[in-house]
Amino acid sequence: MDHPTPDAAITSLSALREAEAACTRCPLYRDATRVVPGEGPAHARLMMVGEQPGDQEDLSGRPFVGPAGQVLDRAILEAGIDRKTVFVTNAVKHFKWEPRGKRRLHKKPNAHEIERCRWWNDIERALVRPQLVVALGATAAASLLGRSVTIGRVRGELLTGRDGEPVVVTIHPSYLLRLREKADKEREYARFVADLKACAARLRQAA
Ligand code: URA
Repeated sequence: MDHPTPDAAITSLSALREAEAACTRCPLYRDATRVVPGEGPAHARLMMVGEQPGDQEDLSGRPFVGPAGQVLDRAILEAGIDRKTVFVTNAVKHFKWEPRGKRRLHKKPNAHEIERCRWWNDIERALVRPQLVVALGATAAASLLGRSVTIGRVRGELLTGRDGEPVVVTIHPSYLLRLREKADKEREYARFVADLKACAARLRQAA
C-alpha cells in the first residue's frame, strides 16, 4: 500500500501538532480559537476523517467531542470498534463559522480551504500509516479522493485515495442529527453502524 512521503521536518505526531498550531495556510486560523489536531494511537490501523471541528471542538482542541462526536462514539461502539484504537481527525483543522446572534454557526469549508489543509492529513497518514481510512461525509471524501463524489453512489465501496490508500466513504454523523423523523434517524443510524462494522470486518480480514 502506498502512503504519502512524510515531511522530513515532521517525524512525530507531537511535532505535527506543533506545526499545525502555527498554520496560516488559509485564512481560517484567524477566526478559530485554536487548531484541532487529529487524535489517536500513533500507528492506528483505522483512521476516521471528518469535515472540520465544530464549536465544542474549537473550544476544547479535540476532534469529535461535540454532538456529532457523541453520535460517532455510539456508532463506533455498536460496530464493535474501540474508539481508543482509532485515529480520529478532520479534513480541515480549523473551525469555520459565521455569527448568528450569540451563536457561532458552522460554515462548510470551500475547495481552496480543503486543498490547503490536505497537507496536514497527508502528513498524518504518512506518520500513522493506517490500513483503512474512513471518510465521514463529502468534505473528507473530496480531500482524500481528490474529486467530489455523491455519498450515495460510493458509500461502503473500497476506493483508492489519491495516495493509493484504501478509503471507504460513509455519511457524516451530523447528517443523523439533522434528520427530523425518528424512523429516518433509526434507519440511517443503523446503516451508519453497518458501514462501520463492514470497515471493522475488512480490517480483521487484512490482519
Ligand atoms: N464534525 C466534524 O467533522 N469534526 C469534528 O471534529 C466535529 C464535528
